[in-house]
Amino acid sequence: MGRVEGKVALITGGASGLGAADARKLASEGAKVVITDIQEELGQQTAADIPGSLFLAHDVRDEAQWHDVLAQTISHFGKLDVLVNNAGLVRFANVEDCTLEEFRLQMQVMVEGCFLGCKSALPAMTRTGGGSIINVASVAALKGIGVIPAYSAAKAGIIAMTRSIAVHCQEQGYKIRVNAVAPGAHDTPMTRRALGELPQGDAGLEQIQAMGQGAPEDVANLVLFLASEESRQITGTHIVIDNGETMR
Ligand SMILES: NC(=O)c1ccc[n+]([C@@H]2O[C@H](COP(=O)([O-])OP(=O)(O)OC[C@H]3O[C@@H](n4cnc5c(N)ncnc54)[C@H](O)[C@@H]3O)[C@@H](O)[C@H]2O)c1
Repeated sequence: MGRVEGKVALITGGASGLGAADARKLASEGAKVVITDIQEELGQQTAADIPGSLFLAHDVRDEAQWHDVLAQTISHFGKLDVLVNNAGLVRFANVEDCTLEEFRLQMQVMVEGCFLGCKSALPAMTRTGGGSIINVASVAALKGIGVIPAYSAAKAGIIAMTRSIAVHCQEQGYKIRVNAVAPGAHDTPMTRRALGELPQGDAGLEQIQAMGQGAPEDVANLVLFLASEESRQITGTHIVIDNGETMR
């Protein structure tokens, strides 16, 4: 028996990086996985390597697409047990250089995308007796990083929204747990792009150079735990996975 045997898990932004690792890990422990992403070709490739998985083109900013993705998930696999709101992006620009357009894009993908995901999943999960929602935040929500004001605000918003939705679920008697994970640097296309863009001497870059990065599988192990019944007493919190980056 796998640790999430028989569960149906939907992972947004699952074509690449952490989301793809989550999909592989959950599938290896017995889940049926639905991968969604705006990157269609890469998403199809990722799903092709995971037997029995389904890829759906999906922009998490679009409420109508959420309805469609939920409907296709239910029609294909019959239910939804686990939602990983993982889709995200980062733009490096301090408060003086960041345009309102760039700020809004990051809030839309991460805060609105996470909101729409939770809102869409609740009715499906309550129908089948509960579930687990895992929202992907970041250590950027917990410390000051000068070049990512919008990303930091979005990730802090995700942590606060996670608590609010977890409280609501408990008050309503829904057996839906809602948690966030807050990773530090892990080796993905996003961090590889970041390492190429950040100027020498940037504090975040120096930190990564000094401490190294985790592997996507490290975050996937935490997501697996939160998706499984092993974490059944955990809701409304965030778990930091950062090799001690924020411990002092
Ligand atoms: N890698 C890290 O070190 C790290 C650290 C902290 C948090 N995170 C978070 O983890 C998540 C995954 O990041 P990653 O490092 O794997 O990056 P990544 O760029 O490899 O993956 C992000 C995925 O999200 C998708 N995406 C972007 N906008 C989307 C949209 N509007 N709708 C649907 N999908 C969309 C992208 O196409 C991509 O496949 C993000 O939320 C990121 O902020 C990553």
